[in-house]
Order: sequence, then structure tokens, then C-alpha cells
Amino acid sequence: MSDWKHRHIIDLATFSLKDYESVLELAHRFEEIPSTGKRKLPALQGRLVTTLFFEPSTRTRSSFELAAKNLSADVQSFSPSSSSLNKGETPLDTALTYVAMGSDVLIVRHRSTTVPEQLAKALDLTGKKTAVLNGGDGLHSHPSQGLLDLYTLAQHFQPEKPTPNALKGRNITIVGDILHSRVARSNLWALTASGADVTLCGPPSLLPEEFESFVKAPPPGQKNDPIKKRGKIKVLRNLSEGLRDADAVMALRLQRERMSQNLITDINQYHQEFGITHERLKVCKKNVVVLHPGPVNRGIEISSNLLDDNSISLVEKQVRNGISIRMALLYLITAN
Ligand code: NCD
Repeated sequence: MSDWKHRHIIDLATFSLKDYESVLELAHRFEEIPSTGKRKLPALQGRLVTTLFFEPSTRTRSSFELAAKNLSADVQSFSPSSSSLNKGETPLDTALTYVAMGSDVLIVRHRSTTVPEQLAKALDLTGKKTAVLNGGDGLHSHPSQGLLDLYTLAQHFQPEKPTPNALKGRNITIVGDILHSRVARSNLWALTASGADVTLCGPPSLLPEEFESFVKAPPPGQKNDPIKKRGKIKVLRNLSEGLRDADAVMALRLQRERMSQNLITDINQYHQEFGITHERLKVCKKNVVVLHPGPVNRGIEISSNLLDDNSISLVEKQVRNGISIRMALLYLITAN
């Protein structure tokens, strides 16, 4: 893993194929560790990992904390509602307070797109060694979720060797509120880098046409795309067309807290048109699987029966894989 170059992890747009391979390979190794009976690895002994979540979270925060503990790190968490944010302290100053206490890694979630990146820049400018891991910023990026989704799919297609190559030529359909989804954006970078073709499906108010060219220009801030050949992206409005021949379907939550206008007028109508059910999956490939990053609105973006059908739903696996993927990320960014 000596060729790992990322001090911070803000966005998957900057990831090379080797980066994806390194993360998945390490996660695969970490996943096998609990079965040996040795729960903790000493890799991060003496390191302090802080979870700075300015937005709510269940899975991401808890699994980062568990991942850090599995690597023997000390873990510190922060609760915005009882913090000095209420006295007017800025998120950046809050983060720098934790740096001053000796934090080696800050995992940051914020509703504004710029916060994790600004923090990483501020740390680099002052020569501080603390690493920043983006735990989800606004609509922009959620790298650990994109990676755990990639891993979950690779593991499904190729259980013995879950590498990005397992996704080559696969059809993955992402359905729902793409506009507000940082998960969709991170998945678009990760899935197309692995050679999968992605179909995006949703109503125009939640899926602008521009998404078709999402990965076409060089990624933001870069001269060239680190990936030579990406899979294709297409936008379809009709669910039956969007699901045709899909190898995997990812449903996304309607993020009503981020909708400034009422973009969906009738939830029942939305479920009729875009809700994923057993019936609607009939046009997909025979062994199709379903993912959802959570939290789920049962009966809206996905039917309750389908969500709980573990012969098709990989949702529990996504949650479990979140731990080993986050162990891999923590390991890699603290290794240098
Ligand atoms: C997602 C998020 O916060 O972006 N959740 C998660 O991290 N698993 C998706 C969502 O909130 O719908």
C-alpha cells in the first residue's frame, strides 16, 4: 500500500483505479479478521480519531467509530447541539479546537460542501499533520459510502475476489432523488471508474439532464481524469425502462430536508412511479440485487417487503461492509 497518496479523503473524483483496488483489498482483509477471534488490531494504537458530525448520522458516524476502535485508536465524538456552535463558534474553529487537542484524524460531516475541503487546506497551510476524512458534505461527496457500495457490489459479483474489476460491463441503476444525493455523486465516480454503466432514473425535478455528463469533463480541480476509460451514464425517466437488464438497483431516500421547494407534490404518486418493489424488478437481470444507503423511508423509495428480503436486498451487507471499508480508509491515511 506504499503508493497511497491521499493525505485527506474529500472526493472520489481524485481516485485512481489503484486507489480503489487498495481500499477494497484492505477492506477484504479486514473483514476476515473478526473470524480469527482477534477483534482488535494495533494499527492505530496511540492515535486519536474525532468524529465531527454537524449533521445527523446513524450509520456513518457509528461505523467510523467502530472502525477506529477495531484498529485500537482512541475515539472522541462531538455533539453539535451541546457545543459552542451555539455561542457562535464557526465549524472551522470548532475543528481546529480538536486539532489542538491532538486529533490525528477528523471525520467531518457538514451540510455545506466547502467545510471538509477548507479544513484540509487550512491544516496543510499550517503544516498540521491531522488528516480530514469527508463523512458527507452537502450535496457534493460521501466517499466512504461510495466505496462501501462499490465493495458490496464487487463482493456480490465476485465473492472470492471483490475487486473493482468485478463491476466491469455491469448495469447499475440508481433511482430517486439524485439531485440532493452526495451518495449518488460518489457512486458515479466509483462505479464508472470500475467500468460499470450507470442508469439514473427519476423525475426531472430530482434528476436534471446534466447528470448524463457528470464524469465527462476532467474532475474538478484536475487537468486529467485519473481513470482512462469510464463506464457510461444515461438518464431515463421511466422506471421500467431504467430497470431493464439491471444487475443491481440502488434506491435513494427522498431528501426532503434539502428541498427548498416542494419538488415532490404527492408521495404516493412518487411510490407508484419510482418505488422499487418485487414486481418492478421483473424486467431486471435474473439475480438482480437491491441497495439503499439508508436511512430508508419504507414504502416510499422501496417497499418494506423488498427491503427485508435478504435474498435480494444487500442493505444489511452495506451496513456491515461500512466497518471494514472505514477501517481500510483510516489505516491508509494514517500509514504515512
Ligand atoms: C446518506 C447521507 O447522509 O448522505 N446516508 C448515509 O450516510 N448512509 C443518505 C441519506 O441521508 O439519504
